[in-house]
Amino acid sequence: MARVMTMEFQPGELRLIDQRKLPISSEIVVCRSYTEVAAAIKEMVVRGAPAIGAAAAYGVAIGLAEFVAAGRPAAELDAYVDKVIEVLAATRPTAVNLFWALDRMRRVYEANRDLSPSELQQRLEQEAQAIADEDVATNRKIGEYGAELVPRGAGILTHCNAGALATVDYGTALAVIRVAHEQGKEIMVYADETRPFLQGARLTAWELQQDQIPVTLITDNMAAYVMQQGRVQLVVVGADRIAANGDTANKIGTYGLAILAKEHGIPFYIAAPRSTIDASLKSGAEIPIEERHHSEVTHLFGHQIAPADVAVLNPAFDVTPHRYITGIITEVGVLRPPYTDSIAAALRK
Ligand code: MRU
Repeated sequence: MARVMTMEFQPGELRLIDQRKLPISSEIVVCRSYTEVAAAIKEMVVRGAPAIGAAAAYGVAIGLAEFVAAGRPAAELDAYVDKVIEVLAATRPTAVNLFWALDRMRRVYEANRDLSPSELQQRLEQEAQAIADEDVATNRKIGEYGAELVPRGAGILTHCNAGALATVDYGTALAVIRVAHEQGKEIMVYADETRPFLQGARLTAWELQQDQIPVTLITDNMAAYVMQQGRVQLVVVGADRIAANGDTANKIGTYGLAILAKEHGIPFYIAAPRSTIDASLKSGAEIPIEERHHSEVTHLFGHQIAPADVAVLNPAFDVTPHRYITGIITEVGVLRPPYTDSIAAALRK
């Protein structure tokens, strides 16, 4: 069965599968303005670090299309592009791929400032498409390097959704799983449900089922038990931002899993493209952590499950210290400690 596409672009229009609705219904949200793209990122119609980077890049191209269609004078373009990038950047703070993609779009804009607005629109559409195409190629490489780490018959635990839906296609952590499965390794994936937004239950379990990859869904608080039972030989998760020393921000709950993996002697891997590395940050302490709406914790699908006035914390991510990370699987190979050296070398390649 053909995989449902996370996003599809044509000039002036970005179509997104609504990830808030999966797997109950497959609905498409059509964005025809950069503000609609920004809203889709903020409200998590599209989510996952590489996916929001690519969507934001398309958002810039759509912004240019709006400018051209409105027939606005070229003299207004610099201020307009600043505004477009500012609005798209203000959507979600943790995943660095968003800012990486917007920086890349800005550099291309500035390097081609002598072109007319409609020529610039085309150039930025090409660049956004290149970001999307490179993402898919990168993920396949991550899958190939990562699959070498997967023993035959392994139980693999993953958290959140680092799959095709979190990227343009194929995924990062799920790329490792896809390639291992294609190689006939007879794996079993344990997918954490991933409270509060349930990306594991709604998206990872669904995505793996679509590809007929064996998957068992567990709630987050079952991870220690399944590890203790000897069912897990490897943990692999994605990342939203990796600091220069290897500290990694990923979906809330990842840090706890890393500690559990260490206690049980299970290797713990991060799978992420180099665009998720933020070498400007010395350690994970500098990574901004998004706090999301408290109703995600107090309500389930609109149903209240907690006292109305209870105090709530809802950090969307946590930071796993690099000492818990066995390796970081990238498109240029598996990085090993000391990460300050291996990350710097990977970025030079
Ligand atoms: O809040 P989300 O759903 O955008 O968070 C996504 C994650 O934490 C993923 O694990 C991460 O982005 C890696 S995606 C390839």
